[in-house]
Amino acid sequence: MACPSNLFATFFIVFVISIASSTAQLSTDYYDSCCPGLLDAVRAQVKLAVDKEPRMGASLLRLFFHDCFVNGCDGSIMLDDTATFTGEKNAAPNRNSTRGFEVIDAIKAAVEQICPGDVSCADILAISARDSVVALGGPSWDVKVGRRDAWTASQAAANTSIPAPTFDLNRLVSSFQAQGLSVKDLVALSGAHTIGQARCTNFRARIYNETNIDGFFARTRQAGCPRTSGAGDNNLAPLDIQTPTSFDNSYFQDLISMRGLLHSDQQLFNGGSTDSLVTSYSQSSSTFNADFVAAMIRMGDIKPLTGSNGEIRKNCRRIN
Ligand code: HEM
Ligand SMILES: *[C@@H]1O[C@H](CO)[C@@H](O)[C@H](O)[C@H]1NC(C)=O
Ligand SMILES: *[C@@H]1O[C@H](CO)[C@@H](O)[C@H](O)[C@H]1NC(C)=O
Ligand SMILES: *[C@@H]1O[C@H](CO)[C@@H](O)[C@H](O)[C@H]1NC(C)=O
Repeated sequence: MACPSNLFATFFIVFVISIASSTAQLSTDYYDSCCPGLLDAVRAQVKLAVDKEPRMGASLLRLFFHDCFVNGCDGSIMLDDTATFTGEKNAAPNRNSTRGFEVIDAIKAAVEQICPGDVSCADILAISARDSVVALGGPSWDVKVGRRDAWTASQAAANTSIPAPTFDLNRLVSSFQAQGLSVKDLVALSGAHTIGQARCTNFRARIYNETNIDGFFARTRQAGCPRTSGAGDNNLAPLDIQTPTSFDNSYFQDLISMRGLLHSDQQLFNGGSTDSLVTSYSQSSSTFNADFVAAMIRMGDIKPLTGSNGEIRKNCRRIN
């Protein structure tokens, strides 16, 4: 059976009303009849990639975030630059930083084998993010799908819509509110920093110049990140000093110990309005997991393309 959005293209005059209403929003069963092998195929590819390199789970989770915050979860982050097209991959928050594009290519290729032309890159990013969290020991949830892929991307929007690690709490809150996400979503989603790595250039000012930081932690990180910018800029350190390849609540314990790696991380526990949420998540992984899952679903709802908008890309790196 054809997937609903292809049905739309084929029979849109006859079914315009019924199909338009059934594709107007995302659902968890969108591909159940038309591509029953989808979830197994994505999970197998994510598992391969994360078994090979645990950090890849973090990188795939972040790709979904950076897709959704730039004009919605529409696969725009996957488009390559060309001579005549500027995409998002070289925007300030992504350049020399986002990774995992080859893994998404491999997942897309596996999915094209079983359901050619049916599944969007935007949905593959969403499912891969969930499978990455699960592969690293975090909670699972039913992913809403039915997104289509954008024909465009915006480097300017990527520069301005993705929050920077230099932001204070009020700017972090505004950045999430601009996407329709709450303060609770901000704190819960920041728990994604329980996995993955950051580059020295993004935490240098914090470990050398800030006072709301544990002294031993600062010295430990200084050993791998020279004070002066240059050769060491891309040196990596784990965002969660305790268990960087386990999706757990130790990130919030780090914040309470003043061992947040990024300025933006420690802003969530710095004597302000979000301290109580951080404390609560640090004490209860089940509370954190529940709020994280709810927030991931809300983030995945940001401005999806549905119905006859956008397309199902054949290759995630270019429009058809
Ligand atoms: C709250 C605002 C946020 C800021 C300011 C922020 C900033 C950053 C920065 C600067 C890095 C390191 C990049 C580098 O040095 O190359 C990073 C890594 C990461 N971020 Fe965030 N982030 C935020 C929210 C999120 C959210 C909402 C998610 C996902 C739900 C997320 C997932 C990740 C992951 C998993 C990594 C590690 C990626 C890897 O190891 O490849 N972040 N983030
Ligand atoms: C950043 O990436 C570009 C290519 O995308 C590369 O030419 C450049 O050397 C990288 N810069 C650093 C500082 O790693
Ligand atoms: C985005 O930021 C990068 C790096 O700061 C800059 O080179 C580029 O011109 C910016 N692009 C737009 C469209 O503002
Ligand atoms: C620390 O702050 C001083 C004074 O603002 C500044 O000159 C210096 O560049 C900062 N150092 C780092 C590593 O950010």
